[in-house]
Amino acid sequence: MIGEKLQIGLAGLGTVGSGVYEALLRNRSLLEARAQISYEIRRVAVRDKRKKREVSIEEGELTEDWHDLVEDDSIDIIIELIGGREEALELIRAALSNGKPVVTGNKALLAEYGAELFRLSQSKGVPLYFEASCGGGIPIVQSLQNSLICNKVDSIVGIINGTSNYILTSMEKGNLLFAEALRRAGEKGYAEADPTLDINGWDAAHKGLILAMLAYGTPLSLDAIAVNGIEDVQPADFEFAHRLGYTIKLLVVIKRHKGEGTLELRVQPSFVPLDHIMAKVDGVFNAIAVRGDIVGETIFYGRGAGKNPTSSAVLGDVVLAMRECRLPDYHTGFHPYAEETAVLPVRETVTPYYVRFRVRDQHGVIASIAAIFAKYDIGISATSSQDGEGMQDREPWNHLVFMLHACKLGQLESALSEIEVLPCVVSEPVVFRIEAFRET
Ligand code: HSE
Repeated sequence: MIGEKLQIGLAGLGTVGSGVYEALLRNRSLLEARAQISYEIRRVAVRDKRKKREVSIEEGELTEDWHDLVEDDSIDIIIELIGGREEALELIRAALSNGKPVVTGNKALLAEYGAELFRLSQSKGVPLYFEASCGGGIPIVQSLQNSLICNKVDSIVGIINGTSNYILTSMEKGNLLFAEALRRAGEKGYAEADPTLDINGWDAAHKGLILAMLAYGTPLSLDAIAVNGIEDVQPADFEFAHRLGYTIKLLVVIKRHKGEGTLELRVQPSFVPLDHIMAKVDGVFNAIAVRGDIVGETIFYGRGAGKNPTSSAVLGDVVLAMRECRLPDYHTGFHPYAEETAVLPVRETVTPYYVRFRVRDQHGVIASIAAIFAKYDIGISATSSQDGEGMQDREPWNHLVFMLHACKLGQLESALSEIEVLPCVVSEPVVFRIEAFRET
């Protein structure tokens, strides 16, 4: 602290970093009144000082070495927005070890190293804030940590990747092809630098792991979560979904199984009933439904990505950090508290399913597939079919859909491995879970 002013070090001046920098200047009087303390941005660490930027910033304020921030005794709070793994990890470790509260939005890092960093924060008594890591502008982290603190969390089910939701909505409602929708999400600043993680489900999985660690106070590693992305979602699946009263959303599902004391953690494109509120969450918007034993069902909704929504989340944490610099005895950062919790193996998880096969246009196809489902004790609630386009091995083929009653994934996989090799089945099945959003 210099004089009566808190000193802020900002590492990273990309899309979110520049949004944070601008808002720290633009809303200074509001933020200072709410934090009850004034501040200065002392140093900003960037990769290349000469790069042209939208924000105007004094040359002397910039450094190309983040150590200049964490080793500067006058800097009180560090905002980490450089992204990536190794350097950001080193930066956060060093800042916490030097007694500097850290605000970060680095979900990939927290998903992988959160258990270590939360413990470091706890042992040093220095808070680590991460509202911006999940759900963009939606205040889900603080809500779980504070407003909902009295609840045992039964489940968290949500749409928490803006890019994939934007792509699915564009395919469903705007008739855009996957590649074009992805390009637009990139232009709007929603997609990751490497959008693979948005598409293959891992960005949502990172956020899901953070929310699960927060809700259950338990350390979790990347292998705890089962992940599928949206790569295989095709227009035909949207057609069947609509016909059957559903849409398709990439959902993160976190559930506590009360009896066994296990956690179910998964990310998958899922069938969502059209009359459920989640089905109406479109474009870059995210929604997170939290069910607690006392509060019941809650839903948080807002922009899940983009410069300003994410800056809002970062700045909320900065104000918390500023308040706590004034009253540092007990910080309101995350204090991990629980025993380790077992994770339910994904093959043991139970939902109804939609399964679409491409099958030859022959007699007895439904019967032979149904017999195998029956052998594995899997009930069928409906079937639907549609002519396929073109020919397969000079024969016509059809789409054939089965809506299945709830069963274990393991049961379904065993049945599918037998069905896939039937001569009447011409390609691997497309499988979606159906989320009923009912209490477990
Ligand atoms: N790429 C992420 C998304 C950004 O699309 O949701 C916000 O975390």
